[in-house]
Amino acid sequence: MAKQKVCILGGTGFIGRNIARRLVERGYDVRIITRRRERNKAGLLTLPTLYLSEGDVHNAAVLRQQFEGLDAVINLVGILNAPGRGEKGFERVHVELPRKIVNACREAGVGRLLHMSALHAGMDAPSHYLRTKARGEEIVHSTETADFHVTSFRPSVIFGPDDSFINRFARLLRFTPYFFPLACPSARFQPVYVQDVVTTFAHALEDHNTFGQRYDLCGPTVYTLEELVRYVTKQLGLRRKIIGLNDWMSKMQAACLQLVPGKPFSLDNYRSLQVHSICNSGFPSIFGVTPRKLESVVPNYLRKQPGRNERYSDYRQAARRQ
Ligand SMILES: NC(=O)c1ccc[n+]([C@@H]2O[C@H](COP(=O)([O-])OP(=O)(O)OC[C@H]3O[C@@H](n4cnc5c(N)ncnc54)[C@H](OP(=O)(O)O)[C@@H]3O)[C@@H](O)[C@H]2O)c1
Repeated sequence: MAKQKVCILGGTGFIGRNIARRLVERGYDVRIITRRRERNKAGLLTLPTLYLSEGDVHNAAVLRQQFEGLDAVINLVGILNAPGRGEKGFERVHVELPRKIVNACREAGVGRLLHMSALHAGMDAPSHYLRTKARGEEIVHSTETADFHVTSFRPSVIFGPDDSFINRFARLLRFTPYFFPLACPSARFQPVYVQDVVTTFAHALEDHNTFGQRYDLCGPTVYTLEELVRYVTKQLGLRRKIIGLNDWMSKMQAACLQLVPGKPFSLDNYRSLQVHSICNSGFPSIFGVTPRKLESVVPNYLRKQPGRNERYSDYRQAARRQ
């Protein structure tokens, strides 16, 4: 059988890199389109059948040209915060881009799209993030035909080496000397391991039974945000007093932090946290995955005592210089 050719949009990110690695291992030719090739090439160019190409994914002509001759496209592009206020920035990435992607797929004759949404994305959800994710999901599914098949994935928060959730709290906890004020401490999550998510994408590429389906993806255990932060604190061997903020204080923290460059926490994030990120049923059986426990993975990548180089890396990340 000829090698399958797949393009990953958002393939330089946390989830994309892991999917790319798995697909290369499975014998796929993988193309990633990135806005900044130089910045994102580390760890990807060594993969033998991966091609990293620089381009603006929002440009329909670029998509059309890059999709020529492909068997499938995977869309992982997503943002937690948008520049400016309102829904416009989210709409560009979560709604307009999926529309351009399906159009380009059709024009280039690509018959398969895997689309990343988010758990509890909904038209009447409280945040721009969740509402625009729902609209993007509707667009990609509404364009399905006998020659164009879509599968979408709706995960809770995802953990694994280089994640931006556990590692972010680890960094913040290290920088905060005694007290750690935590917004929305009772928000609930069911974190899912990145390699389990990767398995679902790799499987869906090869299983026609996943055509037209939308899959909620969660790990085996529900935690409150406070429990997760306490767990990270313990893993790091730190002594910090976690102070859960009430609703009003959480909102105030979000209103202040969204003014900080990089928006570490925003009112839109606060609104997303009003919806518990937990699944109503177990991991979809079609993938044959027994989801990994957070406790069996996180200790392998959280460092207790960072060395000097690792601390510099933390400082660079905090300054958004890598
Ligand atoms: N991580 C989680 O816990 C989680 C949970 C649920 C759903 N998701 C969804 O999963 C997807 C991937 O998440 P991730 O954690 O891997 O994200 P990530 O590490 O932030 O990567 C996202 C990728 O999207 C591209 N991108 C970001 N903003 C863009 C923009 N404005 N225009 C064009 N491209 C842009 C970037 O590619 P370049 O910089 O190379 O262009 C980046 O590599 C997202 O859709 C996210 O909403 C993630």
